[in-house]
Amino acid sequence: MSITRIGIVGAGTMGGGIATATAQAGVDVVLIDARAGAAAAALEQARSFYARAVEKKRLAPAEAEAAGARLKVAAALEGLAECDLVIEAVFEDMALKNEVLGKIAAVVRADALIATNTSCLRVSELARAVTYPERFLGLHYFSPAQVNPIVEVVRGEHTGEAAIETALAFTRRTGKQPLACKDQWGFCINRFFCPYTNEAARLVDEGVAAPGAIDQIAKEALGVAAGPFMVMNIVKPRINLHAIRNLAPLGPFYAPARSMTVTGDAEASWTIEPAGAVDPDTARLVGDRLRAGAFLPVLEELDEGVATPAEVDHGAREALKFGRPPCALMDELGRAEVERLVAPLCKQYGHALPTSLERVGSLVQG
Ligand SMILES: NC(=O)c1ccc[n+]([C@@H]2O[C@H](COP(=O)([O-])OP(=O)(O)OC[C@H]3O[C@@H](n4cnc5c(N)ncnc54)[C@H](O)[C@@H]3O)[C@@H](O)[C@H]2O)c1
Repeated sequence: MSITRIGIVGAGTMGGGIATATAQAGVDVVLIDARAGAAAAALEQARSFYARAVEKKRLAPAEAEAAGARLKVAAALEGLAECDLVIEAVFEDMALKNEVLGKIAAVVRADALIATNTSCLRVSELARAVTYPERFLGLHYFSPAQVNPIVEVVRGEHTGEAAIETALAFTRRTGKQPLACKDQWGFCINRFFCPYTNEAARLVDEGVAAPGAIDQIAKEALGVAAGPFMVMNIVKPRINLHAIRNLAPLGPFYAPARSMTVTGDAEASWTIEPAGAVDPDTARLVGDRLRAGAFLPVLEELDEGVATPAEVDHGAREALKFGRPPCALMDELGRAEVERLVAPLCKQYGHALPTSLERVGSLVQG
């Protein structure tokens, strides 16, 4: 099935961004929100986004007009009856999503796909709310969805192959780069991004270094444009903490650091002061721990078959701007060095050494 019209339920940050990108790529979009005026406001924001793109000469005026005309607001869910795909993007709340998904399933065509943009809930659990779980999947866009190219295409336990193929084709056609992954806590990217930020917070808790110094060292250790604390301040520490808490079933290594909990629960931001010169031993220790904080969860997700090394690196490069993505970096460092980095964390938190360690050296080429 070719997707020519989609519906989006929940026209907030993500729903509005997905609508903007999708309409610009030539697909009709119907937006619905429970809050009066929210869908119309999202539509206006999309049109302003196109206008700015025209000013910057990234979009022709006629294209901007056509994209704006593809966006419609519907007052009720019945407005989704003709959609080929409906993406649910309401608040991250299991009961609310179950209710909304059930209502969507009741009004869409029998052959339509239904997707959830959930970051933290299990696609397979949400699938219970819909009539045809084989046509239900996760489409996890990254913020800002207007421009971030990555979308995790998440296969739930019951998702059919045809639904995955259709979703992959749809995301590619709408200018996105899909990462096919399994329905596991954190999917492909948050699985290692969150623990990497958590390891940074543990370094603060242990008094090893301050956020400014850690951010500076991260640039060299993982080639990031912005260090973990700066990124957390952009994402909001509260949201990052919520995503980390969601990883708890994966084992003690994933438990949130003390300062992560305090900062997130207080809805505060990290104080990042410019770092002066950092002594080389501290810089080495911090760099090692940041790498280990990303490598261990990547190796574990490879063990679990959540995604391939190529997908992990693609997501790290494109969604997170890691200049030195984890699998290629592990290959470069070699098995012995990677084991030296991750073994202390495995010992400390009681995790087994990941078996994917054996593949280090040929993860990306292998
Ligand atoms: N913000 C991010 O960075 C991000 C990234 C990826 C995924 N997500 C996920 O996307 C989803 C939406 O997040 P967001 O940041 O856009 O939230 P948001 O708060 O900006 O928007 C949610 C919207 O849903 C609407 N809504 C609530 N109940 C509704 C209902 N019954 N029917 C219709 N609309 C309803 C709200 O009025 C609101 O406009 C969540 O599941 C979140 O975890 C968020």
